[in-house]
Amino acid sequence: MSKFKNINPTIIVIFGGTGDLAKRKLFPAFQNLYLDGRMSKKFQIIALGRAEKSDDEFRSYVLENLETFSRKKGLSDPETQKFLSHITYHSLDIDKEESYQSLNDKINDIDETFGERANRLFYLSITPSFITTISNNINKIGLAANAKQDRIIIEKPFGYDKTSAIALNEMLSQTFKEEQIYRIDHYLGKETVQNILAFRFGNSMFEPLWSRNFIDFVQITVAEEVGVEERGGFYEGVGALKDMIQNHLLQILCMTAMEAPASLEADDIRNRKADVLKSIRRIKPDEVDHYVVRGQYDAGFIKGNPVHGYRQDKGIAPDSNTETYVAMKIYLDNWRWQGIPFYLRTGKRMEEKQSSIIIQFKPVPHSAFSYGKQGMTPNRLIINIQPAMDIKLQFMTKKPGLSLSLRPAEMVFDYFACSTMSPEAYETLIADALAGDPTLFMRWDQVEQAWDAIDTIQQVWKTTAPTNFPNYKAGSWGPEEADELLARQGHAWIQNSQSNIKEEILDDTDIQ
Ligand code: BG6
Repeated sequence: MSKFKNINPTIIVIFGGTGDLAKRKLFPAFQNLYLDGRMSKKFQIIALGRAEKSDDEFRSYVLENLETFSRKKGLSDPETQKFLSHITYHSLDIDKEESYQSLNDKINDIDETFGERANRLFYLSITPSFITTISNNINKIGLAANAKQDRIIIEKPFGYDKTSAIALNEMLSQTFKEEQIYRIDHYLGKETVQNILAFRFGNSMFEPLWSRNFIDFVQITVAEEVGVEERGGFYEGVGALKDMIQNHLLQILCMTAMEAPASLEADDIRNRKADVLKSIRRIKPDEVDHYVVRGQYDAGFIKGNPVHGYRQDKGIAPDSNTETYVAMKIYLDNWRWQGIPFYLRTGKRMEEKQSSIIIQFKPVPHSAFSYGKQGMTPNRLIINIQPAMDIKLQFMTKKPGLSLSLRPAEMVFDYFACSTMSPEAYETLIADALAGDPTLFMRWDQVEQAWDAIDTIQQVWKTTAPTNFPNYKAGSWGPEEADELLARQGHAWIQNSQSNIKEEILDDTDIQ
């Protein structure tokens, strides 16, 4: 907790201050940090947008959105009013140097009222195409000239492939040193994702089992019920591979597969994650179809409600080939994981929202038991990231009765049973950025390796259009080819709802 004490006075400048992310995630995060006493005594948020607005107008807009999106109740309370007084609005034309000059004047005025030069945190919550212009202007005016005090947070996607990411990084490095750049992946701020480290390295009993010797395969799923909603303009041409796999799923893979870090220092942890990314087996262009499945949703039903297909969504071309689903098999070429498949899948408009890691252990080498109704299930460790937040260990037990037959049972650690108020991912990440702790942010080599790992897939998909889109119904678990991907090895996707072990009520016929 000590890193949060004595946070220096900070001026936070949000590019895209009137955008969707700011209203849904950033302002609620700042408000919660403020109410929890995690902001510096002296801080000011400057929200930037193109339109002319007064501070009062902008504050009412923020308040209205806090009512909808913040996890804290009682928004009309005096503390939230005080929080709002720390926000100012500034109209900025991203392309005009004069605009940055007037921003500079505003920042200097705030420093003067603080009586010291405050830290500066630039939050780029804008489409990636603006990053270069903004960074160049910040450079020209010298807005972030103090490497010890000034930081920039950049939302994903960082580039759109390996080459563009390298170019972007080179351009940014003309203005910012690596330690000033905070590349955000909000999955790393989720409580249950961070808990993977605690679970793996805070316990001794799982470590001996955590390898190719005992694990049969690993499944990482991030399934969403939502479609592209209002984000068609962004999503079209991006697709699930770049939107989810390159960042969120590969980061979860790193947490699951990494070696123990020497310490909890940012670079020790990030070194071990980078090792995982480096060890991902690179596939050849003619292997892409063998290892990767892409899909796009058609019309269907989500929880009984009809929804239309991706190609009918707002902002989407009627013949779009953008993928909304990806499943892939990954091998890690290292000692711990050689030969063990890691199955990753993500999709929009799936049957249910589920983000989870499922570790399936090898079956027993020989069993003398006769089985109960449900048959023999291999041991599984299920880490639910969201919406359920729990860890389950599934194992076989004796079925009550006279005969010696088995049935599955599970032990559960439920996050909600311990706390109902876990911070939102953005609160954790912003608090870390304010405190200057980059552990949960992506270092450049991690981003580069993650792009490298999917580069061939991108290139092949760019030149070969899918022939069967749309190929899964909204409200399903994705295309059939994704099932075949696992079936080749005698495996199957494990749906969370199906993996729950219900307490069986035994009747007389069960007790033999
Ligand atoms: C974002 C993606 O990074 O993550 C979205 O751009 C996706 O397409 C979202 O919906 C999922 O985040 P969460 O926290 O709702 O699982």
